[in-house]
Amino acid sequence: MSGVTLALVGAGLRGQSYARHAVAARSGRVIAIAEPDPDRRRAVAEEFGVPPERVFADWADLAAAGRLAEAAIVATQDRMHTAPAIRLADLGYHILLEKPMATSEDEAMQIADAAQRNRIMLAVCHVLRYTPYTRLLKQLLDEGRIGRLINVQHLEPVGWWHHAHSFVRGHWRSQETSAPMLLTKACHDIDWLIYLTGQLPARVSSFGNLTHFRPEERPEGAADRCLDCSIEPTCPYSAKRLYLGCLGDPAKEFWPLGALTERRDLEGVLDALRTGPYGRCVYATDNDVVDHQVVTMEFPDGTTCSFTMAAFTPMEHRRTRLLGTHGYLDGDGRTLRLVDFRTGEEELIDASLAAGHSAADGHGGGDEALTAAFLAAVAGGDPSLISSDAVSSLASHRVVWAAELARTTGTVVTLTEE
Ligand SMILES: NC(=O)c1ccc[n+]([C@@H]2O[C@H](COP(=O)([O-])OP(=O)(O)OC[C@H]3O[C@@H](n4cnc5c(N)ncnc54)[C@H](O)[C@@H]3O)[C@@H](O)[C@H]2O)c1
Repeated sequence: MSGVTLALVGAGLRGQSYARHAVAARSGRVIAIAEPDPDRRRAVAEEFGVPPERVFADWADLAAAGRLAEAAIVATQDRMHTAPAIRLADLGYHILLEKPMATSEDEAMQIADAAQRNRIMLAVCHVLRYTPYTRLLKQLLDEGRIGRLINVQHLEPVGWWHHAHSFVRGHWRSQETSAPMLLTKACHDIDWLIYLTGQLPARVSSFGNLTHFRPEERPEGAADRCLDCSIEPTCPYSAKRLYLGCLGDPAKEFWPLGALTERRDLEGVLDALRTGPYGRCVYATDNDVVDHQVVTMEFPDGTTCSFTMAAFTPMEHRRTRLLGTHGYLDGDGRTLRLVDFRTGEEELIDASLAAGHSAADGHGGGDEALTAAFLAAVAGGDPSLISSDAVSSLASHRVVWAAELARTTGTVVTLTEE
């Protein structure tokens, strides 16, 4: 059997996805698992055929067994990245690490230090860098097809129900248990904008707040749980409509339904809505992260950029306009419209066609492409295949923390080179 041997640390929704991509491409083999949830642990061990002696309930137990595999996928929740990443790096594992690297700058620096001191390859899961769409866009910019880049306008349309699922009811609703939404969601966007422009910003500012998903906005007659609520049928954020509507669709049963329950039947979903966090009224949870935020950035060469992340959209691919001295690019995550000012001609380029069927899946093909790049880097001992390494990811995370500082202090933050 061939393929890089993998230890899966945190066999949740993301960990399972990367592991499946690795196995499907025959570029990786899951040979050890650490996962505390007994149902998930059993199901994933069975799926990948991992023997009981290499199945653990905690990453620390897996680490105590020494280096079992060439590489590890670390896909635990946000506040649980640092300790396993450092320990596994010290054991010599190459690491595919979910974003955000860590929830504080100090911890992210410790991870980058551990990767460097152990000379291991570490890829942060900035999947957007690896999509066929991004490759195409970057190539057009680097070829100078729109001349010199002057301004970028970028939108992350989170989607009304996705926001309610993840950032009001779900894991990323609270800064205390997770982190600010700019880090948990938009570290992708800030990283991507830096990657595209090829430079770190010199100054950042930011505004944003939690406007809608708060008790003052609760409509009259709303109950604490959707199952008990008389106005649920007319509420856009009805958990009943959202989650019962997933049943019967395998993709939706995996996500978002897989976050609520391992059961895929009416009674299982109703039970989760009756007792779990995902059945709560969106105006009556313990959420505190923003529901809209803007960030503006100025780059050292004078390029400017405005970025908006908002809940109140359909859930779609990101949209970006790039304004150059000789042309204009308008992209929707699949197709790019290029207008050349010299000829006035307009070209429509479909990145999904260039990429084949997979472009529509998992972050526009990014999940698969990242997994492939990481495993090829490990197999061939070639770190240049990883563009989201610890150093570049730390640099873009720092911009996120600077933007959050700007938002919370009402200042413009000047970034200094580290
Ligand atoms: N790259 C992306 O686009 C993207 C998208 C979504 C989520 N994420 C990130 O991926 C990470 C995981 O998210 P998820 O949705 O898969 O969450 P999840 O809750 O489904 O998975 C996390 C898993 O870690 C397990 N775990 C908890 N303690 C553990 C321990 N001591 N040892 C081993 N495993 C342990 C949990 O039981 C759970 O199964 C988060 O950091 C999240 O922010 C990234």
